Amino acid sequence: MFPVLPYAPFAPAFRVALPFGLLAGVHLPPGSDPVGHPAMVRLHPDERDFARTLGGFRQVQFVGGRLALGELANELGLRRGPVLPNAHGAPTLPAGFVASISHKRDLAVALVARGHEVGIGVDIEDTDRERPGVAARVLRAEELAVVQALPRDRQWVETAIRFSVKESVYKALHPFLLRYIGFGEVAVWPGLDGIDRVEPFLRGMEGPFKFEARHAWIGDRVLSMVRVRAACTAP
Ligand SMILES: CC(C)(COP(=O)(O)OP(=O)(O)OC[C@H]1O[C@@H](n2cnc3c(N)ncnc32)[C@H](O)[C@@H]1OP(=O)(O)O)[C@@H](O)C(=O)NCCC(=O)NCCS
Repeated sequence: MFPVLPYAPFAPAFRVALPFGLLAGVHLPPGSDPVGHPAMVRLHPDERDFARTLGGFRQVQFVGGRLALGELANELGLRRGPVLPNAHGAPTLPAGFVASISHKRDLAVALVARGHEVGIGVDIEDTDRERPGVAARVLRAEELAVVQALPRDRQWVETAIRFSVKESVYKALHPFLLRYIGFGEVAVWPGLDGIDRVEPFLRGMEGPFKFEARHAWIGDRVLSMVRVRAACTAP
């Protein structure tokens, strides 16, 4: 857990260096009002044009994610060009850089790193309220058995960690596979130290890949990060 700066709409919430890259957070305003001029002018003009095509809270999220990315650009020596979504929805960065974005309610986060032939993913999930049905939808049978053996009050948090790591896996792995990856195609084994193990069951037998995964907490919100490399190119 790291300190979060006081709330103001679209203001920086935090900026930290983590094992897989630099992470920035930006506070999001509540509601789905169109994003005002002060935040819009902080985007690259092409991002601004794209943001204007989006409606409601989706526009708020998109702007928040790009502002979080912008918080990190200088530090990485990344010239701040537009970061638009590719045909699959993934943020497109210049060669030599990778990034991932997530947003939930009042927070957008961006994880950015230098690297070739690497994928990174970030995801945030709320754990304050249990979402029934998520476990059955996202866990493999062997994960479900482990979760169901836990005390009742631990089961949702353990599910949410796995859910978040799987969404991070999706964002990190999708650029390699360029296909939908189902929740059953990996098992996640969370570590008490925040270092998680990802066990692949890829239906296309792609790979081998090296998966590295971490989770941490921002209040009662889980933040997961994943890095994926082709196993033969990993050090
Ligand atoms: C794509 C997906 C992972 C996004 O996660 P989410 O919790 O819905 O939303 P988040 O706010 O966390 O993330 C949204 C961001 O994901 C990113 N994203 C979308 N598609 C992406 C892709 N194909 N590859 C990488 N990143 C992608 C975008 O940056 C997007 O934000 P932006 O549009 O503002 O740039 C999710 O909607 C999904 O389809 N999940 C089902 C598949 C899955 O997770 N399988 C698990 C495999 S183990």
